[in-house]
Amino acid sequence: MAGWRFMLIWVLGPSFANAGIINFARKTVLSDLSGGFCRSYRFGADIANNVLYMVGLDGGLIPDDGDASNNYLVTLDLTSSFSTSEGKNYKMTKIDTAVPIVKDMAVWSNAENSTLYQYGGRFLNNITSEDTIWTYTTKEKSWSKQDGTIQPSRLEYGVYTNAPAIQAGFWVGGYRASGTTASITDSTRDYATGMIQLNTTTGQYTALDGPYEAVEEGSLSYVPVGDKGILVYIGGDVPSIKDGINATMSANSWSHVQVYDIAGAKWYNQSTMGTVASRTQFCASVQHDESSSSYQIYVIGGADLESKDTILDVNYLSIPSFKWYSAGPLDDPRMTLTCVTYGRQIFGIGGRLAWADDSQAGCYDAPAFIYDAQSEATRSSFDPTLSSFSLSSSTASDIKATPSPSSWADPAFKTLFGKSAATTSTTANNKPSSTSEPQEVNTSDPSTKGAIAGGVVGGVASLALIISLLWFFVARNKKPKNAELVEIIPHQVQTMSELPVGARDGRSELRGGTQMRWELPADHKGEISELDSGRNR
Ligand SMILES: *[C@@H]1O[C@H](CO)[C@@H](O)[C@H](O)[C@H]1NC(C)=O
Ligand SMILES: *[C@@H]1O[C@H](CO)[C@@H](O)[C@H](O)[C@H]1NC(C)=O
Ligand SMILES: *[C@@H]1O[C@H](CO)[C@@H](O)[C@H](O)[C@H]1NC(C)=O
Ligand SMILES: *[C@@H]1O[C@H](CO)[C@@H](O)[C@H](O)[C@H]1NC(C)=O
Ligand SMILES: *[C@@H]1O[C@H](CO)[C@@H](O)[C@H](O)[C@H]1NC(C)=O
Ligand SMILES: *[C@@H]1O[C@H](CO)[C@@H](O)[C@H](O)[C@H]1NC(C)=O
Repeated sequence: MAGWRFMLIWVLGPSFANAGIINFARKTVLSDLSGGFCRSYRFGADIANNVLYMVGLDGGLIPDDGDASNNYLVTLDLTSSFSTSEGKNYKMTKIDTAVPIVKDMAVWSNAENSTLYQYGGRFLNNITSEDTIWTYTTKEKSWSKQDGTIQPSRLEYGVYTNAPAIQAGFWVGGYRASGTTASITDSTRDYATGMIQLNTTTGQYTALDGPYEAVEEGSLSYVPVGDKGILVYIGGDVPSIKDGINATMSANSWSHVQVYDIAGAKWYNQSTMGTVASRTQFCASVQHDESSSSYQIYVIGGADLESKDTILDVNYLSIPSFKWYSAGPLDDPRMTLTCVTYGRQIFGIGGRLAWADDSQAGCYDAPAFIYDAQSEATRSSFDPTLSSFSLSSSTASDIKATPSPSSWADPAFKTLFGKSAATTSTTANNKPSSTSEPQEVNTSDPSTKGAIAGGVVGGVASLALIISLLWFFVARNKKPKNAELVEIIPHQVQTMSELPVGARDGRSELRGGTQMRWELPADHKGEISELDSGRNR
């Protein structure tokens, strides 16, 4: 448990001070998707002030555009009803070219809804840039690089969740590869061993323990129980090699979920009851039922890791009974998607219809569909008045009969469910003691150098203080590629394994109609250059 568990890079403020705020470049670009759509995966998405923001759509995937260097921010206005299948409802603005075009990124809104943070994801256009965090202000509609703070390295294929109630965003799993990190030139995948917490008010990053030593995919959900709430991590695929090439993946059992008590900074391995099929590349949404004080985590879409067959079944895990139930299925298969929740309406965004890298991955009308958790069916239109959720009577009576799991992971874990959410009082309560525990680095490890000692102080807004106090961290042994960047890596460097394994799914995408456009497969430099040559720059 001891030791540095995460990779951070430290972006030196002054060297980027002239980057400043980037304004929108307004060119003749598409303003909505009325000209058609095929597919795109995977968007980063979040709702702020009744606007659903989707990032990660490049023009190369839109039949009307075809220019992959056009990076779009797509929005849906949630103040009135609309059809999700009509392209004209998807408003688009071009994102400034200085912002890297990535996919599979996290998007976190702050509690005030004034800022969106974009972190991580697969690099599509500029592997040399080490800037991992970009922010978007919802009022000024401008993007800027988050400067002068300690930032996590870019990771891909992790999962994230937002917890505005405690002013935090979280990211679990994923890895660094040639698609994220310029210093990785072969097909190595270097898995993250921890969890990233972003304080969305201070912009400060904290490295915390993760549920697995190495994991990708799965789902991460915030549930407001206990002092600060819990995070529930479901599923996930574990690699045979944590830092190396040709790893084989195996799916974690769904008979257990990993639950993190945020206030206690501790993961619990909780068994579940009921039946559910394990899946990967799905998404999750939390629904609260007031009358039973229960939370339901819906898992939507995805495919079986072994057979690669898509899964239409929708299931939900009821908490605190930790029991799986099944709900009405999806109309159409969808995997590699992102979920965003608006009351009982769950937006499934982006993805593909089948596990394929070419046109077999299918086309659909528009980026989003809605699954209504209440009626357990897909809806064709959004209705802003459909907000509150209540459990079906059969599930309600079942969880009344078995309100808690047959065995709790830990007595301390059980006590979290004795009291209701206290998140509103903790947000007003700004005690340094409530800040999560920092990780410690083994400074006597000879593989580390330039260790800088520090500790975590809560409620610190000054960037200078954050830099000096936030973390123990260490500089990479190798000479940094860019002298202005100090790259921080874990002190426990895994040795490269030589195990031979089959090739990974390329995860490519179709460009418009028939002409194929590869979505960056992350670990093949050759395909990156292939991609670039096919673009209209
Ligand atoms: C932020 O936006 C969300 C989603 O629209 C909304 O539920 C929440 O009340 C907003 N918060 C504030 C402080 O306006
Ligand atoms: C890539 O990023 C680097 C560093 O930010 C920058 O110097 C370079 O101009 C960028 N290249 C392209 C093609 O955008
Ligand atoms: C959770 O517990 C089960 C049963 O003891 C075990 O098989 C599984 O490996 C555990 N998972 C983790 C992540 O510790
Ligand atoms: C720290 O690193 C040194 C050198 O690798 C090792 O001998 C020692 O056991 C490590 N200590 C801890 C607590 O991991
Ligand atoms: C984030 O920072 C704010 C302001 O300092 C603080 O009130 C809040 O508790 C912090 N959230 C977390 C999860 O640490
Ligand atoms: C990885 O797999 C490829 C293709 O099967 C093989 O050519 C290569 O030697 C493998 N590399 C290692 C280090 O096992």
